[in-house]
Amino acid sequence: MKHLLTTADLSREEAIRILDTAAQMAATQSREIKKLPTLRGRTVVNLFFEDSTRTRISFETAAKRLSADVINFSAKGSSVSKGESLKDTALTLQAMGADAVVIRHQASGAPHTLANAGWVDSAVINAGDGMHQHPTQALLDAYTIRRHLSGARRDATDPTSAPLAGAGVGQDLAGLHVAVVGDVLHSRVARSNVQLLTTLGARVTLVAPPTLVPVGVEAWPCDVSYDLDAVLGDGRPDAVMMLRVQRERMSSSGGGFFPSPLEYTRNYGLDSRRLRLLDDHTIVMHPGPMNRGLEISAEAADSPRAVIVEQVANGVAVRMAVLYLLLAGDVTHEASDKHGVS
Ligand code: CP
Repeated sequence: MKHLLTTADLSREEAIRILDTAAQMAATQSREIKKLPTLRGRTVVNLFFEDSTRTRISFETAAKRLSADVINFSAKGSSVSKGESLKDTALTLQAMGADAVVIRHQASGAPHTLANAGWVDSAVINAGDGMHQHPTQALLDAYTIRRHLSGARRDATDPTSAPLAGAGVGQDLAGLHVAVVGDVLHSRVARSNVQLLTTLGARVTLVAPPTLVPVGVEAWPCDVSYDLDAVLGDGRPDAVMMLRVQRERMSSSGGGFFPSPLEYTRNYGLDSRRLRLLDDHTIVMHPGPMNRGLEISAEAADSPRAVIVEQVANGVAVRMAVLYLLLAGDVTHEASDKHGVS
C-alpha cells in the first residue's frame, strides 16, 4: 500500500492490519510511551484546503508521536489565495522533501490527482475530499466499533437475533449491524464507512430522508430506509452513527435545506425517545462536528452510550498506524517489536 485514498482499496486483511496496528499504537500510549522513534527524520505535510479540527490535529499528533517532522499547510494565508494551483503547491512540497502528504480538499478526487499525476513521490493520505471519501474517519469508526462491540455478535443467519452469549473478540465486524443516519447525500463519511464496514463483514443500513439519499445508492452494498424509528426498533442496530447535516454543501450546490430543520429533527434526529428504543449495548457515534439540536440532541450526544469523544481519541492511534504502515514499509510483528510498537 503506497497511498491511502479510499476505503474501497482496502482488503479485509489490510483493514484488519491497520486496526491491529492501531491497537498496538494505543497500547503504547496507554503505557505512557508518548513518543516512538519510528519516523524520525521523515517529514509529514498536512495540506488542508478545507477547514478541519479533529483530522488535522490528530494527524499532527500522530506524526509527532512517531517522531516525524510536521509541516502544517492551510490554504488560507498561503499562495493558494493568490491563485496557485494544486500542481504548483505539490511541486513546492516535493522540493521540500515531504515523505507523506495528508490532503483535505473540497474537490472530490483531488487526493487521487495528487497521488497519480507524478507531481510528488511521497505517500498521499486522503483526509477528506469533497463528498467522496474520508478513509481514516471510517477506519477510526471501525476501530471504535470493534473495541466496543466485538462481544455483541449475532447469529449470522438471523441478524435480528439477540447478541450471542459469550461471543469473543473478533478481528472483523461480522455479525454486527450499523445504522448510518442522516445527510448521506453530502457525506464522505457515509461512503467510506459503507465500503469499509461491509468489507469487515458488518451489515449497514443507511437511514435518510429521500431528498438526502444519493442517486445510485441501490448499487451500494447496504440497505436503505427512510424510517428511523423502524430501524432503531426492529432493526436493533449495534451502533448508530449520526451524520452531520452539511448545510454549507447544500447552499454551495444551490440547494436549500430540505426537509426543513424542524421536520428533519422530528423525523431523523436522535433524541431521548429514540435513545430508549436502543438495545442496552448499542453505541451512539458521530464523526463531528455535531449540530446539537438538529441531527442529535444534547442528551444523546452526552449519554453514556455516546462514544463520540472516544472516536476522536481513537483517531490518533489509527492515524499513527496509517503513517507507520505507509512510511515504515511492510513491517512485520518482529519489526513492530523492534520499533517498540507492540
Ligand atoms: N470528522 C472530521 O473530519 O472532523 P473535522 O472536519 O473536524 O476534521
